[in-house]
Amino acid sequence: MERLDKVLSNLGYGTRKELKQIIKKGYVKVNNIIVKDNGLQIDPEKDIIHVNDEEVIYREFIYLMMNKPDGVISATFDNRDETVIDLLCYEHQVFEPFPVGRLDKDTVGLLLLTNDGDLNHKLISPKWHVDKVYYAEINMPIDEADIKAFKDGVILDDGYKCMEAELEIIENLQDSARVKVTVQEGKYHQVKRMFESRGKKVVYLKRTNFGNLALDESLEEGEYRELTQEELDILYSNWE
Ligand code: URA
Repeated sequence: MERLDKVLSNLGYGTRKELKQIIKKGYVKVNNIIVKDNGLQIDPEKDIIHVNDEEVIYREFIYLMMNKPDGVISATFDNRDETVIDLLCYEHQVFEPFPVGRLDKDTVGLLLLTNDGDLNHKLISPKWHVDKVYYAEINMPIDEADIKAFKDGVILDDGYKCMEAELEIIENLQDSARVKVTVQEGKYHQVKRMFESRGKKVVYLKRTNFGNLALDESLEEGEYRELTQEELDILYSNWE
């Protein structure tokens, strides 16, 4: 059971103070009866609430898929730069979502945002081996030794030995390459540092998949949408 004003406030219907007025004025019904007590204890899963005769759709968690643009920080707050949370509309910000793992400021592509701490943990913990797939452009061609080194576990600049990763060549040109990289963990600047350890540089990085879930390519950079139930089921199927 929760207070009526708290439930409505969490869903973005106003501050607790504003809701006290709204409720007092008789705009809120619980199970079709006008209530005037803002502290009324309700069961948000069972009770039917109307505000201004519109039914309130209750949910605790939200799950968003964003095509993260270049130049935006994947954090909930930053003193200087725009964050991915700034790109969300108020209706989603009220749920206080946070990014699932981080993408660098200049990395684009699939970023999940949720307020579901359990799912977040399972997706980012290396223990669960959820693959992250990246499309990358490299400043030099890739050779078989690079592919083998990724498979064996690249050693990063700080001595850390990465888990096995898969490096696939999409196109090798004379002085550059386009590749697909699959990693199971998400260390700081991981993919860039893996290539650095091979003396090569990532010049463009885009995440295309998170576990079994693929980026909806119809989302322009900076756009986002809620996950469908089917996509949520796909995410959970990572552990089946
Ligand atoms: N690896 C990186 O180097 N950067 C990212 O943003 C994600 C993975």
